[in-house]
Amino acid sequence: MKIALGADHGGFELKNKIKEHLLYRGYEILDCGTDSDQSVDYPEYGFKVGKAVIEKQVDMGIVICGTGIGISIAANKVKGIRAALCTDSYMAKMAREHNNANILALGARVVGPGLAMDIVDAFLTASFSGWRHTRRVDQISEFEKNA
Ligand code: RB5
Repeated sequence: MKIALGADHGGFELKNKIKEHLLYRGYEILDCGTDSDQSVDYPEYGFKVGKAVIEKQVDMGIVICGTGIGISIAANKVKGIRAALCTDSYMAKMAREHNNANILALGARVVGPGLAMDIVDAFLTASFSGWRHTRRVDQISEFEKNA
């Protein structure tokens, strides 16, 4: 499975830890930056990861900023993206099972690295349940088409 990672300066350090964690577990990585802790603007990185997912360069994305809020909002502006900001592994599992989220968003100033890895693992190992959730996710896509 190939994962796109993107972060601003607030998420840079956590992105590197997640990258190491995922490479060790055999995932392929597309690193969309940023490449240092110099201040940058999060929308670019949310958008890059969103595009990589929609263009099927990768299977899933992970975006990180200080709170996870700005970068998740940015990623969700890419048509077809369902980015879910999660602060625990239950949310991450549900984001996949019920919402068919294709991007996980994390706040590096909100969750510590240990919890972040649990959240990442929960997100990447869960899968969409389908059934009634398909109808609801399809409704979101319809709203998006007509927005
Ligand atoms: C950057 O200081 C911070 O605003 C950003 O990382 C993020 O938290 C925005 O939502």
